[in-house]
Amino acid sequence: MEGEDRVHKDFKKLKGDWQKIGRERPYWGVLTNELFLPESIDGNIDKFYERGRKVVERLREIARENDFAFEGKRVLDFGCGVGRLSLAMARYAKDVVGVDISEGMLKEARKHCNHGNVEFMLSDNLEEFGTASFDAIISLITLQHIRPLLMKEYIGRLLRLLKPGCYAFLDTRTEVAIATGTDETSRYMEVHFLPGDEVEEIGTANDCVIRAAVPRGRKDGNMGFIFVFCKNTT
Ligand SMILES: C[S@@+](CC[C@H](N)C(=O)[O-])C[C@H]1O[C@@H](n2cnc3c(N)ncnc32)[C@H](O)[C@@H]1O
Repeated sequence: MEGEDRVHKDFKKLKGDWQKIGRERPYWGVLTNELFLPESIDGNIDKFYERGRKVVERLREIARENDFAFEGKRVLDFGCGVGRLSLAMARYAKDVVGVDISEGMLKEARKHCNHGNVEFMLSDNLEEFGTASFDAIISLITLQHIRPLLMKEYIGRLLRLLKPGCYAFLDTRTEVAIATGTDETSRYMEVHFLPGDEVEEIGTANDCVIRAAVPRGRKDGNMGFIFVFCKNTT
């Protein structure tokens, strides 16, 4: 199959999968823990969003270590899901735009949003944003679900949305570290990998340097990395 057809087919499958998850088990689709299944989420909703606040504190720490701060910035949260990170980021950023391909996810995100500086949008391809339109981009546990050819396209598109001197914090899995295809999770969602050198190549092609690769989860990086990209100023 030609590259373009492949990407088109992969996108249709991706969107179908996440629309189903958004309809049937949105919170579990973000964190695959039984506490967040539809039958148990009501008693655990605070715990769910608290995890988002912790992750955002960690992102702020990583940003500081790399001479960046989210305060006063216009931030894109790509694959925002039910708004776990967007809502926590809204406490610091000037504006947050959360985008997703799943209406069910966005419906839940909007339900929990009482910040005037957050907007949740359905977007298939990020085309509604001009180039260089964000000061910061975050995307966690999202790219790993996109098949590699399409994942590479998205990373490029995201980096083109960054203003000069601005930062993107994107995570990917870089090694095959888990078995997929048999358990409950993989019946719902695919998990994919992209070697670190390919991530770096996309950065270079889009005028960005990788300032840091922060191991996610296990210290040996088997769970992947948060890549900290900085867009060149010249
Ligand atoms: C595992 S959830 C993570 C949600 C959020 N980043 C968080 O950490 O709470 C992945 C989300 O990415 C969304 N997603 C997957 N592919 C996408 C795409 N191509 N464009 C926008 N959103 C996408 C899914 O619909 C889902 O809501």
